[in-house]
Amino acid sequence: MVRKISFIGVGPGDPDLLTIKALKKIESADVIFWADSLIPEKIINFSLKGSEKIKTSTLTLEKITSIMIERFNEGKTVIRLHDGDPCLYGAVKEQLEILRQENIETEVIPGVSAFQVAAAYHQAELTIPDITQTIILTRAGGRTGMPEKESLKDLAKHKSSLCLYLSARHIKSSQKTLLEFYPPETKVIVGYRVSWDDGWTSLIELKDMEKFTLEKELIRTTIYIVSPAINTIANRSNLYNPSYKHLFRGK
Ligand SMILES: C[S@@+](CC[C@H](N)C(=O)[O-])C[C@H]1O[C@@H](n2cnc3c(N)ncnc32)[C@H](O)[C@@H]1O
Repeated sequence: MVRKISFIGVGPGDPDLLTIKALKKIESADVIFWADSLIPEKIINFSLKGSEKIKTSTLTLEKITSIMIERFNEGKTVIRLHDGDPCLYGAVKEQLEILRQENIETEVIPGVSAFQVAAAYHQAELTIPDITQTIILTRAGGRTGMPEKESLKDLAKHKSSLCLYLSARHIKSSQKTLLEFYPPETKVIVGYRVSWDDGWTSLIELKDMEKFTLEKELIRTTIYIVSPAINTIANRSNLYNPSYKHLFRGK
């Protein structure tokens, strides 16, 4: 079997939301790199007793990848844990590229993202026929900035379900922009440290998003889901409609 370094999404916090694949990898790894600011210790506790656990919050890309390469070349099983799903705001690609240059094989194992858990807590379906069939996952610009073609204004024009990551510090301008397109009473799910022991979610209205964020002193680890599909009367779908024939219910 080809040896690889696995990049693993471990979900937003609750260990019960790990995939079985992620759990097996954690249980058998010799060296575990983990984003300690966003992953609870409970998840790391599934690891082997003598395994080496390396917190990445204070390390640079160069440091992380040089230790990874060193341990891998010593014959160790190396894994890298990212919160949520690695494909979202994970800074994963830059790590994969360095490892590729060293001819080290890699794999990415998906995880549950924060927006999915916040939606599930409110039993929200974010794609309801005739209301919206689209979910936009985005963020306020901040220090990273946004490509010009993806300004919140342009995205909000769709009036779809819209999830804001990494945006609590920029909620004033985000709310102002969103209110140009969505009605003030549009429902917003706010989730803070969703699925952690001290986490919570709340259902508010768009017009109160800034006030609520300031009152709760939200700065980080907060997800917002703005959606016209939350708390609406859903038209029934075609999928389970007796008059609608499809491959699995044709006759
Ligand atoms: C660096 S990004 C990583 C996102 C992650 N890859 C994912 O799929 O959820 C961190 C941001 O994700 C969101 N986030 C991650 N975990 C969260 C949680 N447990 N509760 C609320 N928001 C969370 C917040 O917006 C946070 O600022």
